[in-house]
Amino acid sequence: MTSKDTIDKTKLPQHLAIIMDGNGRWAKQKGLFRSIGHENGSKAVREIVEGCAEIGIPFLTLYAFSTENWNRPKLEVELLMKLLVSSLKKEIKTLTKNDIKLNAIGNLDALPKKAHKELLDVIAKTKNNKRMTLTLALSYGSREEITKTIKEISLKVKNNLISPHDIDETVINNHLYTQNLPDVDLLIRTSGEQRISNFLLWQLAYAELYFTDTLWPDYTKDHLFEAILNYQNRERRFGKTSEQIKE
Ligand code: IPE
Ligand code: IPE
Ligand code: MG
Repeated sequence: MTSKDTIDKTKLPQHLAIIMDGNGRWAKQKGLFRSIGHENGSKAVREIVEGCAEIGIPFLTLYAFSTENWNRPKLEVELLMKLLVSSLKKEIKTLTKNDIKLNAIGNLDALPKKAHKELLDVIAKTKNNKRMTLTLALSYGSREEITKTIKEISLKVKNNLISPHDIDETVINNHLYTQNLPDVDLLIRTSGEQRISNFLLWQLAYAELYFTDTLWPDYTKDHLFEAILNYQNRERRFGKTSEQIKE
């Protein structure tokens, strides 16, 4: 029996988020340019998106480019943006075939025009797909998102559209980029780094964290299934006692 067959379909994470890390080190280990690492990273994206759709995960969010990644060398940033456009063009077929809806979170206005346009185009073309929502975090930073949320809510308070007493977690949720997504159940980070790097700080509040040494371009469906099985063996207590959970 493979690890896929042992997955309990009734206990799947509803929202899986992944920090896809290690493309640069993967290339370096092989004596190749970082760009080759990113290209192979995009192949792993297809493999993992398909794996998630196969087992029935409804929401998958991939950290593809952070607000801090704008500080990388200009050439690398340009290359990543080009890779985004070519991957979107190529993957529209996979998305359609697998009934996957594309979504994006982040400061999308900061993307180069071409990338922004291609992204909106694929989002529009896949908007009626139902099997899974694939969210790309692009030019995404959690602090930027929270700052934007506070600004928007303050403006509503100033214009008497909302009273400060009515601000609760739901109101905050409804102003985040992730307003249409459930909280994250499982976060996977590849490449051995054990940090969050400004990703979904609010939404990860009770997520299970899973770190693996595998570099992103080497990440396969079997690695994914292993992570899901690990998640399914954990007890999520949400502040309660173990006895209460078993009741
Ligand atoms: C992740 O791989 C991809 C992006 C952040 C865009 P890295 O490029 O961060 O790879 P390492 O961490 O240098 O190995
Ligand atoms: C986080 O990876 C961002 C993405 C995976 C897109 P980084 O490689 O940029 O993270 P740090 O800066 O090493 O924490
Ligand atoms: Mg990295």
